[in-house]
Amino acid sequence: MVNKKELALESTTLWDFPTQNYGDTPHGNNKYNGVTSAFVIWNLLKRYTKDNDLVVDPMCGSGTTIDVAKELKRRVIGYDINVVRPDVIKNDARRIPLNNDSVDFVFIDSPYSDNISYSNDIRCIGKISCEKQEFFDELEKVAKEIHRILKPNKAVGWLIGDQWKKKKFIPTGFLLYQRLEKYFETIDTICVTRRNQTSNTDIWHNRAIQFNFYLRGFKYLFIMSKK
Ligand SMILES: C[S@@+](CC[C@H](N)C(=O)[O-])C[C@H]1O[C@@H](n2cnc3c(N)ncnc32)[C@H](O)[C@@H]1O
Repeated sequence: MVNKKELALESTTLWDFPTQNYGDTPHGNNKYNGVTSAFVIWNLLKRYTKDNDLVVDPMCGSGTTIDVAKELKRRVIGYDINVVRPDVIKNDARRIPLNNDSVDFVFIDSPYSDNISYSNDIRCIGKISCEKQEFFDELEKVAKEIHRILKPNKAVGWLIGDQWKKKKFIPTGFLLYQRLEKYFETIDTICVTRRNQTSNTDIWHNRAIQFNFYLRGFKYLFIMSKK
């Protein structure tokens, strides 16, 4: 019988399974603001890495990438400016302390505006609104670093959402994608469906009709390789 994990590798739709429901051991901490679904990372590592490859997450938060990578027997380094566990290295993603061409895969789930408070560190890119050009300039610095540390032809998976706030839509995903295209070739773009949608309630459905907006039930996953 095909199990849930194998099914997800066959399918073209990537579901954001709640972290708690995947695997036997914990991955990251679902109490961490903006925690990533372990299943998304598992899918990427199964497809784009092999045993002993070096995986890096420059904004690893509660360490979901570290846990998934270790479980899959990949080597892993997780950085963040907000350190919540001892195996996360404090570092600003705009300057990664690794050699050129030294990494096999990068996963990153970056802030997509100033909607979540991650920490008090002023270097947090999540303090800048995606309504400002500066937000994309700073993410481009991170993209450049990822490009520098990746081995030739190796891939990055970048997860990001859009913003609809105060009757104004910002296509954050597309705006980031334009920056990423300068450094990377596109392998695939995936919509990751959010299963744990807090907006999937009557109140939000009614608001969406009243104020004419769509409920955002997905994030983009850009999978790209180093040019
Ligand atoms: C969406 S969260 C990542 C969640 C993580 N993947 C997890 O599963 O817990 C975004 C992270 O970016 C980090 N961050 C923001 N600006 C940063 C910077 N300049 N350098 C490093 N990390 C940064 C935040 O502290 C936050 O942990």
